[in-house]
Amino acid sequence: MSSHSYDAIVLGAGAAGLMCAAVAGQRGRRVLLVDHADEPGKKIIISGGGRCNFTNVHTAPDRYVSANPHFAKSALGRYRAADFLALVERYGIAWHEKTLGQLFCDGSARQIVALLLDQCRLGGVEIALSSPFGEIGHDGDRFTVALPGRIVTAPRLVLATGGPSIPKLGATGIAYDIARRFGLKVVEPRPALVPLTLGGDEALFRTLSGVAATVTASAGKARFREAALFTHRGLSGPAILQVSSYWRPREPIAIDFLPDAERDWLIGAKRAQPRTTLRRALAATLPDRLAEALAERLALPGELGATTDRQLDEAATRLSAWRFLPNGSEGFAKAEVTVGGISTADLSSQTLEARRVPGLHAIGEAVDVTGWLGGYNFQWAWASGWAAAQVL
Ligand code: FDA
Repeated sequence: MSSHSYDAIVLGAGAAGLMCAAVAGQRGRRVLLVDHADEPGKKIIISGGGRCNFTNVHTAPDRYVSANPHFAKSALGRYRAADFLALVERYGIAWHEKTLGQLFCDGSARQIVALLLDQCRLGGVEIALSSPFGEIGHDGDRFTVALPGRIVTAPRLVLATGGPSIPKLGATGIAYDIARRFGLKVVEPRPALVPLTLGGDEALFRTLSGVAATVTASAGKARFREAALFTHRGLSGPAILQVSSYWRPREPIAIDFLPDAERDWLIGAKRAQPRTTLRRALAATLPDRLAEALAERLALPGELGATTDRQLDEAATRLSAWRFLPNGSEGFAKAEVTVGGISTADLSSQTLEARRVPGLHAIGEAVDVTGWLGGYNFQWAWASGWAAAQVL
């Protein structure tokens, strides 16, 4: 079997791997980029509803979930949202800011893949697609990777195979297996940015499937004010996806259905319109079906005028922190990302290199750094890929 040598082998031609390979190639390194998929950047192509939310202008380390909240600072500080945006503009890709600092292509996410492939071309990167890799060896100086029909070797190996969310796109947890084999720890991977499911009494809410409202959702100390959506399985929408990254099984989440209301709004409504009902008072702000379902569950007796201030105060309190106890999530099959991953404790935050295995790097979603919804995950992929490439 033939053997080929490179300066660096990057496993995974997704967002982080493409960026890392391109930058290292342009720094004069001979880079091989390997993927088992028949096309690079499959998640980029479907991202942002096909328009790729490629970064967020509000990128900051506190918008990432990690066992070490400081870890992402170095890479994010050196390769910023503005840097990727400058690249997008250099390629003449039209873009727009949607909400909350989220930048999307006007046209197609494929433009971002084309940009990255062109950057790889400029760096002379060799790309091996449809190339499942086999045995990975390390003799202390060089890594060897078995590919179909050949063995490739390099002093540097970059794990950029992402996390296991959306396996039908070819996602796997192989980065964790390789990391463990080299003695690196892995923080338990969990599905994140994922819809939550409801059962038991709360399954009744599933009849509201399709109803959405702007709420504040919280899990632990994390709070997000965005839209929540009832689904036939439970809860989704940006607010729920965001809290799902912080949610732990058997813990509740809380939803404030009226985030703009004053604390005593219901008592005020009673004074202004004593003949009105809770359902009508709620329907002034919330969709009808949601107002009806919440009023039914609060079961106040008739008109507000016939209800004590104390009962109204209790109802308002419940509406501002409605407790749901999800019985699970829709899992890796539907999760946009994975929280957890290769432990940051075993990596340099500057170079993403394993502290005890010189030459081994891990970047992107494979690492225990997970961004909020809104372009933060791609920004981490670009920044971590760029940071590792500086030392390949
Ligand atoms: P990524 O998953 O991109 O790449 C990993 C690569 O490794 C893939 O090409 C895969 O084929 C390859 N691979 C995996 N296992 C392998 C194996 N065993 N052998 C060989 N190759 C293997 N983020 C964001 O910021 N804005 C957005 O708009 C969206 N939208 C979005 C939509 C959907 C539906 C999903 C699922 C995800 C998003 N994301 C997102 C998240 C974003 O896609 C994700 O965080 C990045 O793609 C992670 O980049 P990586 O390069 O780390 O992994």
